[in-house]
Amino acid sequence: MEKSEQANMATSLADTLEVKSNNPIPSYLKSAYWWAYLHPKSVRFFERQWLINLILWGNFDRLRDAALEELGSSVKGHVLQVACVYGNFTEKLVARLELEATLDVIDVAQVQLRNTRRKIGNSAKVSLSRQDSGNLSFPDNSFDSTVLFFLLHEQPEAARRATIEQAIRVTRKGGRLIFVDYHYPGRLNPIGYFISGVFKLLEPFAQDFWSREILDWAPSKFKPRKVDKRTYFGGLYQKTVFEV
Ligand SMILES: C[S@@+](CC[C@H](N)C(=O)[O-])C[C@H]1O[C@@H](n2cnc3c(N)ncnc32)[C@H](O)[C@@H]1O
Repeated sequence: MEKSEQANMATSLADTLEVKSNNPIPSYLKSAYWWAYLHPKSVRFFERQWLINLILWGNFDRLRDAALEELGSSVKGHVLQVACVYGNFTEKLVARLELEATLDVIDVAQVQLRNTRRKIGNSAKVSLSRQDSGNLSFPDNSFDSTVLFFLLHEQPEAARRATIEQAIRVTRKGGRLIFVDYHYPGRLNPIGYFISGVFKLLEPFAQDFWSREILDWAPSKFKPRKVDKRTYFGGLYQKTVFEV
């Protein structure tokens, strides 16, 4: 059977599974972000490197590389990427994987997984699965590193807390959790006022997210061995790394 036929079969099987799955698309995603992630036309519209870079004020490469440098220039072990990302984030991650390394990418939207598969092609090192970030099916301590790129600010508090809890659970002791996301830039940064306006219109949970540190959204019993936080672009973005 040809590769394209195999891919088509996999796609229709995945669609069938989506219908039967007990991981429905979360209501916040359907109501607040359908236009960005769920509609096939939105994928066609947003899947442009220059546009994603523009949305991040020209910081996409810098923030992507900040996340990837935490994994190292050549990545060993098992990595989990929680949620798909527009642009070349996953392609660049895959390019760093050593022979024995693996990458799992999960997303709750099949259309996003299909888009990621199209970008990275077929690779035995990479598995894509439809899962809710708040209800991961992986056993405890499955991964050496877990990376979340601009997911948390799009989630309401309960989903955000569940996502962090699950990310901690599936990352092994001594492993690392890498978050790149928005950060409150402070009252003196004029971009902060502009972005707050954008958030009010388009990102209903983002202001709540940046009002506190990421560790504040984690279960209180979680005591990371180490927390590293660095901000970028006048404090508008952050990379926060927990050593579990
Ligand atoms: C990583 S976030 C934002 C990334 C960034 N804004 C970009 O440029 O792509 C977007 C992804 O998160 C996924 N997502 C949102 N809530 C999710 C959940 N509860 N579980 C799994 N994936 C989720 C969406 O389907 C979407 O593919």
